[in-house]
Amino acid sequence: MRQASITIHKAALQHNLQRVKQLAPKAKTICMVKANAYGLGVENAIHALDQADAFGVACLQEALEIRATGNHKPITLIEGVFSETELLTAIKEKCECIIHHRQQLDWLLHHKTAYQNAGLKVWIKLNSGMNRLGFKVPEIINVIHQLKDENFHCVLAMHFANADVPEHPMNQQQIDQLLHVKAVCEPIEVSCCNSAAIYNYPELHFDYVRPGIMLYGASPFDDRSAKDLGLQTTMTFTAGVMAINRIKAGEKVGYGSRFIAEKDISIAVVSIGYGDGYPRAYQVPVFVAINGQRFAHAGRVSMDMMTIDITGYEDQIHPGTSVELWGEHISVDEVAAANGTIGYELLCRLTERPKRIIQD
Ligand SMILES: Cc1ncc(COP(=O)(O)O)c(C=O)c1O
Repeated sequence: MRQASITIHKAALQHNLQRVKQLAPKAKTICMVKANAYGLGVENAIHALDQADAFGVACLQEALEIRATGNHKPITLIEGVFSETELLTAIKEKCECIIHHRQQLDWLLHHKTAYQNAGLKVWIKLNSGMNRLGFKVPEIINVIHQLKDENFHCVLAMHFANADVPEHPMNQQQIDQLLHVKAVCEPIEVSCCNSAAIYNYPELHFDYVRPGIMLYGASPFDDRSAKDLGLQTTMTFTAGVMAINRIKAGEKVGYGSRFIAEKDISIAVVSIGYGDGYPRAYQVPVFVAINGQRFAHAGRVSMDMMTIDITGYEDQIHPGTSVELWGEHISVDEVAAANGTIGYELLCRLTERPKRIIQD
């Protein structure tokens, strides 16, 4: 059978959640499990994250996947609902909604009694400069006052555009606006910290923190590794050697014939490719690990296969040998950097093809 699998380390996920709680002991933790829990599989993640106070997802469909597992923890829809019908389902399934534009506000007011009877809080999104979703100051103050007058339990929500770059001037501008709205609308609960902000802004943890990437053991920072942040690897992505070929100096490997052997070498063909979500577009050498030893790619990654140079290790590597694409020895952040992207994207891009295996 084709070897390509993703082992999910449940204990590591739990460790990373404890790390959040250690960093933000007073805040409730909304574990972000959108995009199939950053590729880990939402069911795997929510099962491991049983100490979460709540879950955060992008849309109702993702919330329904959680409810389908029988999980009844609070859920926040961080983009709110996309229609009035969705709002009715959100109420029935006890999902708290973000309000980021007037139409959502109208729907909410229209179904005020049902929403409130379900015991749901309403999250109001501040657009403090990210300019994706939310009400700007001063409109948000009117919206919050209106909702408070209607007896809604309100949470003021904001998202940083540059939480990973503490010296970025935008951060203070966003914080100033948040603190202004908070002061004018007191008493009000507040939430603004993603993973990077949990590390960089301990004074802004407030009532709820919203970690995503740090739970999954990758770093939100370019210049600090997950290990340095006290996080554990939650995923080991592996495949198997399918064939080993001897290549003569001057021979080429793979699509585009971009790799040309400078001397006689041995190539291992590994059963993984972009059809599994492994990235193709690397700019600098990318490595995999076999028994903890690093080996470089040789030639382009194709849909189902990749090729690596194993010269000198022919006696240790055979068809069936396991190859780590990322995990304990090669971080997803390293592979992402070599591909000009971030760990988030590689995790979310994993396809259904590699089987997920849960390890306690
Ligand atoms: C509104 C919101 N909060 C929190 C998060 C989690 O961010 P991170 O994965 O950087 O911790 C996200 C992720 O994109 C988000 O959109």
